[in-house]
Amino acid sequence: MSVASLLADLHLTAPLVEPSLLACDFAHLADEIRRAEDAGAKILHLDVMDGHFVPNLSFGLPVVEAIRRTTQLPLDVHLMISEPGRYAKAFRDAGADLITFHIEAVPQPAPLLEEIRAMGAGAGITLNPPTPVSEIEECLPLCDLVLVMGVMAGFGGQQFDPMALDKLRRIRQLVPKETLLSVDGGIDYDTIGPCAAAGANLFVTGTALFSQDDYGPFIGEMTGLAKSHRDVRVS
Ligand code: DX5
Ligand code: ZN
Repeated sequence: MSVASLLADLHLTAPLVEPSLLACDFAHLADEIRRAEDAGAKILHLDVMDGHFVPNLSFGLPVVEAIRRTTQLPLDVHLMISEPGRYAKAFRDAGADLITFHIEAVPQPAPLLEEIRAMGAGAGITLNPPTPVSEIEECLPLCDLVLVMGVMAGFGGQQFDPMALDKLRRIRQLVPKETLLSVDGGIDYDTIGPCAAAGANLFVTGTALFSQDDYGPFIGEMTGLAKSHRDVRVS
């Protein structure tokens, strides 16, 4: 599937709960992915951390390649690394469909966003809670996805910062309705509704999802909450 069709498809099927594999049982990665698929997941979120841009280390290219071999689902790779430009092509070759990097790592993001699009992937920018929307405003026309962090990047299981809601509302006003607006960190039954009302249509969920015994009802109920709260301008 071309990236244009993938983006159009994601926009049409949204709102989507997007499992963040960071919180899954890595000893049974393929099984966890299968369970997420069976539960209705339409896209997977992969958190790459380098122990430098963020204090934590997660996984890198070999794991993304292995995930690519085990699923047909689109892979949304969130690069929490210092020099994303050095690795973007390698992640694309490993199977990433969407590649998102931090404005705090690349203050002049336009060339890298263009490069990612030229690789045939969707290009995304993200910003940590302390970073204002004004920092990314100029590059928004080059983004297929904008990811608002609800927590400081680096760890799962943190509490959602409601300041993210203002950012979502602001960004939703600034981008065309086709641009995917994602929120990551602290998304659960309490926070998904307000995020949907603020304009988000992709909801990255780690701890709240993988702590369930059964992922299907959780994804179903969360999607229902997002639908009932969603900003009509997005649909
Ligand atoms: C945090 C990561 C998130 C994380 C979200 O740095 O970007 O994707 O897995 O996890 P929860 O849902 O546990 O906040
Ligand atoms: Zn993430």
